[in-house]
Parts: sequence; structure tokens; C-alpha cells
Amino acid sequence: MKPVKIGICGLGTVGSGTFNVLGRNSAEISARAGTEIIIEQVGARRDNPACDTSSANVTRDIFDVVRNPEVAVVVELIGGTTVAKQLVEEAIANGKHVVTANKALIAEFGNELFAKAEAQGVTIAYEAAVAGGIPIIKALREGLSANKIEWLAGIINGTGNFILTEMRDKGRDFADVLKEAQELGYAEADPTFDVEGIDAAHKLVILASIAFGMPLQFDKIFTEGISKIEPQDVTYANELGYRIKHLGIATKTEDGVVLRVHPTLIPEKRLIASVDGVMNAVLVKGDAVGPTLYYGPGAGAEPTASAVVADIVDLARELATGGKPNQAHLGFAADALQEFNMLPMSEVTTAYYLRMTAEDRPGVLSKITQIMSDKGISIEAVIQREPQNEGAQASIIMLTNRAQEKQLLAAISDIEALDTIEGSVTHIRVESLD
Ligand code: HSE
Repeated sequence: MKPVKIGICGLGTVGSGTFNVLGRNSAEISARAGTEIIIEQVGARRDNPACDTSSANVTRDIFDVVRNPEVAVVVELIGGTTVAKQLVEEAIANGKHVVTANKALIAEFGNELFAKAEAQGVTIAYEAAVAGGIPIIKALREGLSANKIEWLAGIINGTGNFILTEMRDKGRDFADVLKEAQELGYAEADPTFDVEGIDAAHKLVILASIAFGMPLQFDKIFTEGISKIEPQDVTYANELGYRIKHLGIATKTEDGVVLRVHPTLIPEKRLIASVDGVMNAVLVKGDAVGPTLYYGPGAGAEPTASAVVADIVDLARELATGGKPNQAHLGFAADALQEFNMLPMSEVTTAYYLRMTAEDRPGVLSKITQIMSDKGISIEAVIQREPQNEGAQASIIMLTNRAQEKQLLAAISDIEALDTIEGSVTHIRVESLD
């Protein structure tokens, strides 16, 4: 069988992991692919001490790789959406298949890149773009293809989950944990992508498109990060029997589709509430199968390389046997993708956790509950923490029943206008995930 020759562009965390896994497990990998996989060329601006490329054909110009006539599969691991986009476009134009871990590129430019790839008869494989080592793209696209997917919810940013876990378990400082996540190779080059939810939004857009069969729509997603979560919210959530997780949630109903990424209180008894550290998990509800949960490392060199190499093996199998690699890039035939009504966050109905600081005097709580009742929002639980010192303020923590976001925001604005309330009211959405 003719060997399949690949070119790797980028030798950062994932690139070096991919190089090392391909070398270390070459016998198993070739046996699975049914052919030998050869790293024909590596394009990297600089060496990475995490891998020994001394016997590889290394070029400092990554575009040499996509212009190399021997290379059948270009593995794009440089990240970003500028040079990476040019690289992938040139690879496609040169008739090469592409494997990428680049969620930003797929979420923001996937529609046009897939169309270009389909026109050229090549495939863009991107299992590593979502949830690191978890084969969630394959699970959605292939394993669950019998189902109508009703909703999915996932912890899909390892850095964010690592930060929230360390804050809760060890009381560590946000900035200190983020620094460690960067050192461990979990965080994005620009870590605001992790902490402000952009990375999770990229991933959710991809998952939702595959789940529901719609074009990628990154501009339609509501995104809120974890940077405003305070240690006291983590503590109060625990007292109430919840964990705070940064979730990406996609739902499809008769009214339309909602895509949202935000911190969420989930009951501690849910399996997904125990997903800690850099681990990711995606809960998918299909009409036939019911709820299914996928769990594994969401970031890091070799977990992500595991997904990259799986895509290379898939392509190599097809190329070795002369077959045509799978071109249903989003799991549905390209001409079967549908546009759905995309609902704004203001229309979403969910329960809420609220925390506010109030003067410690009679009647304050009743004014707050009156406002909530006027907006049709009922209260499920209240905790009031008395001030430690005379004259200091009390903290009031509430859980509401389900309410529409726009009603809740209107209630918050009325509460903030009370002269007994200091500052703004913290609100975090609550989901039961059942
Ligand atoms: N920065 C990402 C994360 C890397 O922490 O999940 C994996 O996509």
C-alpha cells in the first residue's frame, strides 16, 4: 500500500504533541490506517525542545509545506485566523486534505472553507478543534446520526474549568491559576479567549452546527466569561447544593435555536458537575438515545494530538484504499443544511442565582421580593448573611424559579434602583440539565 505523506505546520503545544505521538505509536497508527504515515515535512518558525525534529525535513517557511507536491495531507496547527486561513486556502487550492485543531478558523470561516474544500474534492478534518481528546465530533456526526438532537451542554474550555476548580477546591487566586494553565500549555495564545468565553463559543458553534444541521453562525452566540465570578459566589453555590461551571449550551425547539456560553450553576448531583480541572465533558440529548455524556481531557499537547492523529488516520485509510474521504463536513450533506430562527438571549428562560449587597434594615427583603413578584418571578430559596460589624451591609443570595431573561434583567434594574441596595446585582444562570 502506498504510504500517505503528511506535512505538519506549527510546532507549538499541539504540533509537538502530534509529532511525538506519530513517532512513538507509528506501528499501531500505521496498522490502523492500513498504510504507513510519513511526516514528509514540518513547517515551523522555530524549534520546540518538546520534540526532536533533528531527523525531520524542517522548513522555516510553513507555506513550503502546502506547496510540497509530495504532501497529501496538511496538518495546520499554527492557530489564529489570518496566516492559518491563507495556509488552509492554499492547501485546498493545491488539492491537499487538511487536518486542523483550529476552532476559531472553523467557527468563523468554516462555511467558506468547507465550500472551497468540497469544490476541490478534498476534506477538512477538525476533531481536535473541540474538547481536546474527546472524539465528540465523531460521536455527534457518526455515532448519533440516527437522532434528532434536542440540546447539548458542555464544559468545553479546559483552562476555564481548571481555574474554577482550583478556586473552589483550594481557594486560589484567579490570576495565579491562569498563569499555571498557561505554563501547562492549556491556555490560548491570548488567554482572554479562555476567560471571556470566546474559545468556548467557537467550540459551541461547531458542535451546534453538527448537532442541528445548520451553517456555522459565530455571530449569533451569546458569550459571557468567567472573569467576573467571585470566590463568594463559588462558596454560596456550594452551600445551595450547586457547582459553578462555564457551560456552552445549544438548544433547538420549535421556536428556534439558542446558542449561549456563560457561567452556570448546576446541581452537584449531576455527573457533569464533577468534571474538574482541565477535563471537558459534553452532555448530548438525542430523541432516540436519550442523554449521553462524553468526558476527557479538553486541552494539552498529547490529548489534543490524539484527536489530530485520529483525523490523519481516517484520511490515510481512505487515501490508501483509493476511497473518497468524508466530505459531509458538518455531518449533514452540504445542501441539506438549514437556517433556523436564532433566538436572542433576552428570550431565553432559565432559573437564576442572584447576589446583592443591602443595608441591614427592616423591609429591604420585602421590597426585593415585591419587585420579583411584579415581574412574575418566583423565588426558590434565599440566604441572608448578616453583617459582621454594626452598620455594615448584608449579603442577600437568591435562587429564582425559571423566568425569561428580559424579565429578570428588568427586575434587577428595579432592585439596583432601590436606595437600600449597594452596587450591582450579580446574576448567574442556573440549569438543571435533566
Ligand atoms: N485553550 C483551550 C482550552 C485549549 O483551555 O480548552 C483547547 O482547545
